[in-house]
Amino acid sequence: MSVFYDEERKLFKLDTAGSSYIFEIYDEGYLVHLYYGAKIPDANVGEFRDKGWFASECPVNINIENTRFSPDVAPLEFSGEGSGDFRSSAIAVRNADGNNVTDMRYVSHRIYAGKPSFEDMPALYVNDESEAQTLEVRVRDSVTGVEALLSYTVFEKYSAMTRSVKVINASDKAVVIERVMSCCVDFDTHDYDMITLYGKWLKERSLERAPLSHVKQGIFSKRGSSSHHHNPFAAIVDRDAGEDFGSAYGFNFVYSGNFIFDAEVDPFGGTRAVMGINPDGFEWTLRPGESFQAPEVVTVYSDKGTGKMSRIFHRLYTDHLIRGKWAKIKRPLLINNWEATGMDFTGDKLVTFAERAKELGIDMLVMDDGWFGTRDDDTSALGDWFVNEEKLGGPLSDFVSRINALGIKFGIWFEPEMVSRDSDLYRAHPDWCIHVPGREKSIARHQYVLDFSREDVRDYIYSLMHGILSGSNIAYVKWDFNRYLSEVGSAALPPERQKETFHRYVLGLYDILNRLTTDFPDILLEGCASGGGRYDPGILYYAPQIWCSDDTDPIERLSIQFGTSMCYPASTMGAHVSASPRTGYETKGNIALWGTFGYELDPNKFTEEDKEIIREQVNEYHKYYDVIHSGDLYRLITPDRDDFRAAWMFVSRSKEAALVTSVVMRRPEQNTFYLKLKGLDPDKYYVEDESGEVYSGALLMNAGLCLNRFGNDDGDSFKLYFRAL
Ligand code: GLA
Repeated sequence: MSVFYDEERKLFKLDTAGSSYIFEIYDEGYLVHLYYGAKIPDANVGEFRDKGWFASECPVNINIENTRFSPDVAPLEFSGEGSGDFRSSAIAVRNADGNNVTDMRYVSHRIYAGKPSFEDMPALYVNDESEAQTLEVRVRDSVTGVEALLSYTVFEKYSAMTRSVKVINASDKAVVIERVMSCCVDFDTHDYDMITLYGKWLKERSLERAPLSHVKQGIFSKRGSSSHHHNPFAAIVDRDAGEDFGSAYGFNFVYSGNFIFDAEVDPFGGTRAVMGINPDGFEWTLRPGESFQAPEVVTVYSDKGTGKMSRIFHRLYTDHLIRGKWAKIKRPLLINNWEATGMDFTGDKLVTFAERAKELGIDMLVMDDGWFGTRDDDTSALGDWFVNEEKLGGPLSDFVSRINALGIKFGIWFEPEMVSRDSDLYRAHPDWCIHVPGREKSIARHQYVLDFSREDVRDYIYSLMHGILSGSNIAYVKWDFNRYLSEVGSAALPPERQKETFHRYVLGLYDILNRLTTDFPDILLEGCASGGGRYDPGILYYAPQIWCSDDTDPIERLSIQFGTSMCYPASTMGAHVSASPRTGYETKGNIALWGTFGYELDPNKFTEEDKEIIREQVNEYHKYYDVIHSGDLYRLITPDRDDFRAAWMFVSRSKEAALVTSVVMRRPEQNTFYLKLKGLDPDKYYVEDESGEVYSGALLMNAGLCLNRFGNDDGDSFKLYFRAL
């Protein structure tokens, strides 16, 4: 049992292996948050609601005698709008009278085994009801009759919970949701730092850490996708927390569209953290009897810093988010032609790629952008998903057969959500893209975004994709998305529903991803959005891997991969060895091994010496696959802390094997280098594969290894593999 209801204290306690989360039903039905942190056995925390003497101007509820209770300062579980709490609200619903005062109080609750799934949105799942327990609390605004169901699912063994909110219009008049946060947590202090992942194209998910102060600090997207600019992840950590010590609370939104995460410090020193759909540009009309399901937030608590927090996310996502055939079996090692050829290729040329791939032990060739319509550069043809037979030298099925005949699997690129201004599709259906009538449409990469909120548009695009995927032996799809949404409106919605377009668009995307993964369960799907511009758990529910970044410079990739690893497992990180000149193949390989691994270059240009290295890398890919894909990650030296070196290691869950990698980013000031390992069993003895030296886990973690024997120049790197004796 991980969810308890204390009848006497009217209090809920949600326990995981390492955390407790407590809130109570207070007077007048207020849900008051009392505690979130390291696991505690008891729950005598009722007085935590009273924040001390607040000013006389703070609103109070006239029916409550406790002079220490004001919604203005009390830690509230699901605070409404305009009813005495001036902090970020969790919900604001505009009622038929035109105001948005919202005040939700407790009605009932139920506790049950397992976790419900959503009809039309991604969410973490259980394989068996015993793996999680769910608390559902019903709250109601007694004036408008609008209700909400607050769901908390406890994944006990992971120190993790998921939270979501369903708004139900139980009244007899239409209402408009202006804001609904999927998660709200009131911390009793602001003695924290906030860690977020900022970025842009070629610099996704870079780590940023800043102390909380008396301002509202937040990240967001209003680009229509989760975006390069901020990832829908944030951690609230103790000021002195590090990789291995201190409390860390991680929040990750299972959603691929507009979002916010805000941490607001109140005048009394507490912090309110909220996460949900960005209210900017959002509204949703609910007619009587209708409901709206807000997406889910994953929260993780770690008592041992950000390292443990990340490992909890990784295991949780490996076991309860990533689905389908490719969740647990070995992925093919691929070569993609994009960086080698751009759109300037022919079928014959790609066959030579496949021939070289075969010689080197690579499993699959991926044909990137440029195989359809009239597309020789990025100005045309998106939406015209008809094979360019002239380029491929015949029908796609024949071309794929040529590749398959070499013993190489075949994958293909699509950008289904887009239409080029210069395309037959746009000429035939100019109203099929996201737009606002009478207003000029901004263009990006010569393309517009198709209105995926519309079923007819989705059906058309999907029918073309379906035809291509079922007509040839296709093992993999790279699903790209190369511009943000602007001038957002849908020709299919009435004026009062235009602000639903953003969210309906994301639901439309999920609909097609759902159809695709259901109809083609054997296809391996890789997400992509101008590199890693839509890297979120929503996409990972459908696509087990996502192209991390268009930046394949190995040294720049380090900070991207370290940032990505904050909450996303290595098995999801699309990482390839490219022709980037910054380092040799060995270092490029060592860095790409941290992800899905593959190649993004012209294999015809390899020298004999290169081929030797590549063959060896392919062997290493197989040798280390399990420890990387199913093991635990330990970040040893992070590039944001040390300008010179980066180091990380994977340890198998059984602690029987470990792979350590270090890269010199810039020649260090001193040569002497001791590396202390982490995560090993101190009592086990480990043999280092190459030297045959034997060390105890305790020695490796406490004394460390003196690594002066390894190169110290820019771009040098090494790997060490340990096996328990
Ligand atoms: C995006 C992707 C690249 C490549 C190109 C093709 O930039 O991130 O990997 O597929 O599109 O146009």
